[in-house]
Amino acid sequence: MRILITGVCGFVGSRVAQAIQQSHPDWSICGLDNFSRPGSRRNRPSLERLGIDVLEADLRDRELTDKLSPCEWVIDCAANPSVLAGVTTGSSSLDVMEHNLVGTIHLLEYCKTHQAGLILVSTSRVYSASKLAQIPVELQEQRYQPTMQVIHSPSRDESMWAGLTADGINERFSTEPPLSLYGSSKLASELLAMEYASAFDFPLWINRCGVMAGAGQFGKADQGIVAFWIHSWFENAPLKYVGFDGFGHQVRDCLHPGDLSRLIELQVVDEKRTGTPRICNVSGGCSSAFSLRELSDWCEHRWPNRRPRSLSILSDFRTRPYDCPWIVLDSSLAQHTWSWRPEWDREAIWNEIADHAEAHPDWLDQIKG
Ligand SMILES: NC(=O)c1ccc[n+]([C@@H]2O[C@H](COP(=O)([O-])OP(=O)(O)OC[C@H]3O[C@@H](n4cnc5c(N)ncnc54)[C@H](O)[C@@H]3O)[C@@H](O)[C@H]2O)c1
Repeated sequence: MRILITGVCGFVGSRVAQAIQQSHPDWSICGLDNFSRPGSRRNRPSLERLGIDVLEADLRDRELTDKLSPCEWVIDCAANPSVLAGVTTGSSSLDVMEHNLVGTIHLLEYCKTHQAGLILVSTSRVYSASKLAQIPVELQEQRYQPTMQVIHSPSRDESMWAGLTADGINERFSTEPPLSLYGSSKLASELLAMEYASAFDFPLWINRCGVMAGAGQFGKADQGIVAFWIHSWFENAPLKYVGFDGFGHQVRDCLHPGDLSRLIELQVVDEKRTGTPRICNVSGGCSSAFSLRELSDWCEHRWPNRRPRSLSILSDFRTRPYDCPWIVLDSSLAQHTWSWRPEWDREAIWNEIADHAEAHPDWLDQIKG
């Protein structure tokens, strides 16, 4: 089996590449990356030590895919993954579309030419940001929870709340814009991938991932929040709760890339399934859900003597664009379809990051852009 991984030196791409290579030493893994993500170059040597070929290349380059040798599967992990990309952070809106959408189109042409299967690593951000933001929530201890009424009411408005369940957001939830430029670039990528796969008959699986977290992530405030928070806490860097009530009660779930890798391994050996849903949520779900406030408590417990600057956690009540009080994905469709379930629990993920923080006490400086 020959597999090409794009964005191979990014957080997800590198962890998936390593995991697959380690569990299938007979498979040939290669990858490409343009190293636009600060810190990504750090991953190159360890991938190469495992025998993974890494090509420095940019998916926006139209000629690139003509130059790549054939493979059986492509795992697309290249993107600018920030929900604020093109809106408030450094990159322009056109940059986001070029990296995230034009890059995908070039890959689709490659899949068409070589009849390669595609695994698109998509995102929970394809769901409507405006509807997610309107989910009625109430504060329960240190976190927001959707009100039971909106989940269980038999007379609830399905045009608004289809897909909202006690186990999280499922695949029926609205994808109506606004989503964010990032979310729209991924939703458009999904649509084009389905069109190409159908027209040119190559296998396709789309994994809509919730927040992913683990050691080695290049965490920033707007992307990779779990790693950013734990590293910042350990390094005594200033932290800020942003938006809503200013106390960090917003909720997300978390998934370790090792669990995504296990799913991908099942998908690449099972390309011919008929009737299997192409699109599945892939997430840690309710059992992994947390608020930043709870993550702070956990950090305090792990490092009782490292509190000083953390005490200066600031609140900023201005809610950031596209922020939502509660995003937890229901991945039961993926679990039933693939007989898969996440094995990494929240505690194990956070401990992995905290161990990494202790081993790399200047991580935030090392990954600065
Ligand atoms: N991290 C998460 O929480 C999360 C959640 C859901 C989905 N995803 C998806 O997972 C994928 C990987 O995300 P990540 O967290 O590893 O991000 P990352 O920034 O760590 O990795 C992305 C990699 O892609 C590379 N890249 C970007 N544009 C490129 C281009 N035009 N050509 C070649 N390489 C390019 C970057 O240099 C980087 O190494 C993305 O598609 C993202 O949408 C991530």
